[in-house]
Amino acid sequence: MKIFVDSAKREEIEQAVAMGLCDGVTTNPTLIAQTGKPFDVVVKEILEIVSGPISLEAISMDAEGMFEEAKRLSALDPERVVVKIPMTKEGMIAVRRCAQAGIRTNVTLVFSATQALVAAKAGASFVSPFVGRLDDNSTEGMRLVEEILQIYDNYDFDTEVIVASCRHPIHVLRAALLGADIATVPFNVLVKLFDHPLTDVGIKRFLEDYKKIPSGNK
Ligand code: G3P
Repeated sequence: MKIFVDSAKREEIEQAVAMGLCDGVTTNPTLIAQTGKPFDVVVKEILEIVSGPISLEAISMDAEGMFEEAKRLSALDPERVVVKIPMTKEGMIAVRRCAQAGIRTNVTLVFSATQALVAAKAGASFVSPFVGRLDDNSTEGMRLVEEILQIYDNYDFDTEVIVASCRHPIHVLRAALLGADIATVPFNVLVKLFDHPLTDVGIKRFLEDYKKIPSGNK
């Protein structure tokens, strides 16, 4: 499973790259606003650090506006930039036009399997079911991922499933067990993936025991 970093913060992305845990990056207007930097500055920074796909969100609400934005964003780096398009009727028209123009898209804010089916038929390169936000609304987010994977498998769709809105390591674990293509993971969750109290206890004990080894044997 590929791991994308769900962040726009340079220092977080750099650390993820250093750990070998950054196959790509996903952003949204909320994440970019959190950096306190202008959009263009943030995008330039990410392009300097990351070699995989980088999702940048369009904010127009009509298909024409989305397509124009998509062309502008994609021109920043046609190989790596993926344009995030919201799951709306206008959005699907834009996705189709982007696909025809060779611009990759990531359909975002997906909360049902039929939305994912529609996104794939429109020609989306990626689809992003938001599992955490579904869990917040008493609906099992990972069940949706399971359904989408089943549908895409039934019909050999090429659209890749990005498990998004991951809030904790169990979301990542279940994504991997289900065979999702990608989990996009916020930095605070990423670091929890390799944390375990028994590892810390084990390291502490080994270091203490090392001190007990007679110096001649070191
Ligand atoms: O990838 C989508 C993500 O940024 C949304 O996460 O935690 O705001 O639901 P969250």
